[in-house]
Amino acid sequence: MCGIVGYAGARPALGIVLDGLRRLEYRGYDSAGVAVVHDGELLTEKKAGKLANLEKALSERSTVEPGSDLDGGAGIALGTTAIGHTRWATHGGPTDRNAHPHRAHDGRVAVIHNGIIENFAKLRAELERQGVEFVSDTDTECAAHLLAGELARLRAAGEPDGPHLLAAAMRQVCQRLEGAFTLLAVDAGIPGAVVGARRNSPLVVGRGVGENYLASDVSAFIEHTRDAVELGQDQVVLITADDIEITDFAGRPASGKDFHIGWDASAAEKGGYDYFMLKEIAEQPQAVADTLLGRLTESGEIALDEVRLTDQDLRDVDKIFIVACGTAYHSGMVAKYAIEHWTRIPCEVELASEFRYRDPVLDRSTLVVAISQSGETMDTLMALRHAKEQKARVLAICNTNGATIPRESDAVLYTHGGPEIAVASTKAFLTQLVACYLIGLHLAQVRGIKYADEVAAVVAQLQEMPEKLRRLLAGIEPVRELARELRNAPQVLFIGRHVGFPVALEGALKLKELAYMHAEGFAAGELKHGPIALIDQGTPVVCIVPSPAGRGVLHDKIVSNIQEIRARGARTIVIAEEGDRTVVPYADHLIPVPRTPTLLAPLVTTVPLQVLACEIAAARGHDVDQPRNLAKSVTVE
Ligand code: AGP
Repeated sequence: MCGIVGYAGARPALGIVLDGLRRLEYRGYDSAGVAVVHDGELLTEKKAGKLANLEKALSERSTVEPGSDLDGGAGIALGTTAIGHTRWATHGGPTDRNAHPHRAHDGRVAVIHNGIIENFAKLRAELERQGVEFVSDTDTECAAHLLAGELARLRAAGEPDGPHLLAAAMRQVCQRLEGAFTLLAVDAGIPGAVVGARRNSPLVVGRGVGENYLASDVSAFIEHTRDAVELGQDQVVLITADDIEITDFAGRPASGKDFHIGWDASAAEKGGYDYFMLKEIAEQPQAVADTLLGRLTESGEIALDEVRLTDQDLRDVDKIFIVACGTAYHSGMVAKYAIEHWTRIPCEVELASEFRYRDPVLDRSTLVVAISQSGETMDTLMALRHAKEQKARVLAICNTNGATIPRESDAVLYTHGGPEIAVASTKAFLTQLVACYLIGLHLAQVRGIKYADEVAAVVAQLQEMPEKLRRLLAGIEPVRELARELRNAPQVLFIGRHVGFPVALEGALKLKELAYMHAEGFAAGELKHGPIALIDQGTPVVCIVPSPAGRGVLHDKIVSNIQEIRARGARTIVIAEEGDRTVVPYADHLIPVPRTPTLLAPLVTTVPLQVLACEIAAARGHDVDQPRNLAKSVTVE
C-alpha cells in the first residue's frame, strides 16, 4: 500500500527513484508521481494508473527544452535530490490531481505520504480559513501546506536556512498530525536534502556511499546498498548525500538500528518466470528449508530469533490468541490444531481487525501470537498493541526484519522466506505454518510436555518437507491443465476437515483475489447445514482429504462428504495422499500429494490450490501479481 522512495546523492535521482518505485509496485497502487529538486526549482510529474503512464509523461517532457513553459523541461532528469510515490487511494479517487507528490501553496515544497491523517478535515478547514486553496481531495495536501507554512515561519524568525530547517519544520508538522503516516518532503530552496517522518507506517533508510535513500521497504534500494537503518516510531530522519540524522518529533537526537540485508536484488526479480507468484511458488521448498535452518540447538531446543521473554513467562501462559489477517489468519487456524494438540493450552484464532473491538479477556498469562508476512499490517499491529496494553505477552511470526510488528513484540520468529513480491501470499503461508509448528514445539518443550527426542522427531518430519515439496512441484502440470478447463466456471467450492478446513479457506481466498471468481471454503461437515444448496450440475468442488494413515475417522468422514456432493452433481477435484485408492471412485480429478503426517499436511495440500488459482487467473487474462483493488502491505485499518 503506497510505495515511497527518496534519494539524496550525486547521481541523477529520477532514474533511481523510478527504479525504486518499480520495485515497490508489488505493494499495490493506482497512481504514481515524482518530485525532483534541480537548480533551485521543484519539478514534479504525476499520473493516474501504472508507472508506465508516469514514464510516458516524463519522456514527453524530456524532449522539451529547459526554460519552456513546461515545468522545468528536461531538468527533471538532472536533479540529484528526489522523492517518488506510488499511491493506493484512500482520500480522493485515483486521479492525476490526487496523485502524489503534493505541492504546497508556495510551489516550493513537495510532500508524499503513506497512511491516513485522521484530523485532516480540521486542518484543511483551518488552512482554508487562512486563504490556502486546495487543489486535491487528499489528506496529504494538508501536510504540504503546513510544511511550507512552518518553513516560512522559521525563516521569518531568522533560523538559518538549510537541511536542518527542513527537519525542524517537519517536526512541527508531525506534532500537529493525528493518525498513521510516513511523510517525505523536499524544498526547492534546500537542494541535496530529503526529510522523512514516520508514525505507525513503514520507513527505512538505505545507507550508501556519498548517497542515502529512504523507502517504504528495502527492496526499493537493494540494488544500490544492502546496509539499512531501521527507524523507530515518531522519528524524523534527514538524509543528505553524506549524512543521516535522526531525531524524535521533539527534536531530541535519536538513533536507528543498523542492519544488513541478507538477500540481494536478484531475489526480488522474476528470474525467468512469467509472474512473481510462479517464482514464489517454486521457491517454497527452499523457503521452508530456510525457515527451519538452525532451529534445533545442540541441546535439542527450538531456537527463536529474538526472545525478550523468560522460560518462566512461557510456562505461565494459560491461554493463546493468534491474531492475523487473510492468508496469515489461515496459517493461524492451522496452528491452533498443532498448538493445542502439542501443548494442551487453549488457543483461539482471531481476525486481527476484529480482535480489539470485542474486548477479549487478556492478562499477563495470555500469549498473543501475531502472524504477518510484512510486519506492517495495521489491523495486526493494532491488535498487538491492544494485547500489550492489557499486559499480554506478544510473540511475532514475521518475514520482514525490523518491521514494526516484530519490533513491538516480546519475542520473534522470522520466517526467512526471502522477499515475497506477488500480492497473493504463497511462500509466506508455508513458512508461517513452519514457524507456527516450531512455536508449538517450543512451548511444549519449555512446559515439559514434550521431550527433546519427541521435538526432534517432529523437526525431522518438517525437514523432509522441502524434498516432498520439490517432488510435488515437479508433477504439478496436470493441475495447470485442469485450471485451464475451469477458467469459465461460475464458482468453485473448497471443502476440508480439521487442518484441511483452513486449507479450503486459503484455496478459496487465492481464487477470489486472483481470478475474481466466486469461491468459498467450507468445513466439509457444515455442507449439509446449508452450503450444499450451492452445488449444481458440474459445480467444481475441491476436496482436501487427510491421510488415511492418520486419524481414520477424519478420512472416512470426508470421503462420505465427497460422495454426498457427487450425488448432487458436483465435479470433484480430490487432493489426497499418494496411494490412497479409497478416493479414486469418487474423484473426477485426482491430485496426489506426498504422504505427510496429518498436522503437517497443509504444507503439501495448499500448493496445488496456489497453482490452480494462479493458472486460472492467467487464463482469464488477469494481472496475477497485482490483482485489482489489492495491496501487498495493508497499512491502514
Ligand atoms: C493473501 O494472499 C494476501 N496477501 C493477504 O490476505 C495477506 O495475507 C494479509 O493482508 C496479511 O498480510 P501480512 O501477512 O503482511 O500481515
